[in-house]
Amino acid sequence: MQPSQPPPLPPPSPSPLYLKYLREEDMPQAFPDFLSSLPLEEGWFPTSLRSYQGFWLPSWILKPILTCQNHFQADPSDVLLVTSPKSGTTWLAAILFALVNRAKYSDSCSQRSHPLLTQNPHDLVPSLEFNLYLKEENPNLAALAPPRLFGTHMPYSLLPQSVRDSNCKLVYLCRNPKDNFVSLWHFVNKLRPEEKGQIPIQECLDKFCRGLSPCGPYWDHVLGYHKASLEMPEKVLFMTYEQMKVDPHVQVRRLADFLGCPFGEEELRDGMVEGILRMCSFENLTALEVNKSGKLSTGEDSNWYFRRGEVGDWANYMSAEMGERIDGVTEEKLHGSGLKL
Ligand code: A3P
Repeated sequence: MQPSQPPPLPPPSPSPLYLKYLREEDMPQAFPDFLSSLPLEEGWFPTSLRSYQGFWLPSWILKPILTCQNHFQADPSDVLLVTSPKSGTTWLAAILFALVNRAKYSDSCSQRSHPLLTQNPHDLVPSLEFNLYLKEENPNLAALAPPRLFGTHMPYSLLPQSVRDSNCKLVYLCRNPKDNFVSLWHFVNKLRPEEKGQIPIQECLDKFCRGLSPCGPYWDHVLGYHKASLEMPEKVLFMTYEQMKVDPHVQVRRLADFLGCPFGEEELRDGMVEGILRMCSFENLTALEVNKSGKLSTGEDSNWYFRRGEVGDWANYMSAEMGERIDGVTEEKLHGSGLKL
């Protein structure tokens, strides 16, 4: 049984990267009684997964999520970029930042000082739970100039109440589960010590199909936001990585319209959409020194967030049979939702 009220939160740790990938028994944080009351499974990361209100969360992320739920006050001008890990967050974070701040960096002089040239998109659109509330119990977010841009992997049902109550906007980016799975598998391998080698993909596939992935079940995460986007289209925009690949121009204009900052005739004539897409392209971002050899403020290597950036890369790592296994779960889970992935 899950206790309805989590206990008071322990003081935050100053070293987020260190905390993030710890095994539960090595975590310096408190609330062990609360953690141990939650169902436990071995995760893909060294840290195990705990089931909290229907979702599997890495143990270390529970504290920042609960802290965020307690403290975060959404502003109507806020924009939250929501994803399941490895859905293309980095790409859309870059686009979102460039789009919302386009007036500031429109002339050639300010283009040369564009923050995307020197910072990883994750530092420009910081994650509520992976960054801000992991570092500090109550970060001073009121000082940030509007519109504030935040990222999160939180399932819809775990969002802070103020996010659901306010008129802030949620942009959800979803990715085909097979590519999402393979991308996550690669990412996890980067976190493993070299001498341990790769974690067997079959082992991860079993877990993924049982819903055991960070913030999984993957499908429940997607469905929560898909439903919200149908019920509140003015609040939640549902996008896919694949649509972005096929027709980025249309999707970026759709995003701008949704955010209430549509491109004007002059901007369209001047190639503003193309400029943003060029700046945020895989080729451009991966050519920047910051993304080749820099680190995020949370400690990860920037280049961990860029791999191939292709649709259908799963087929290079999984057999047709493995792919069918994911397809089977997708069909079952999405049945009746009207959503096709
Ligand atoms: P692959 O591992 O399939 O290459 P996230 O940003 O949510 O962590 O997702 C990472 C995935 O997005 C990786 O996918 C990465 O290569 C891809 N990606 C990062 N930047 C991109 C960009 N500018 N365009 C397209 N894909 C990008």
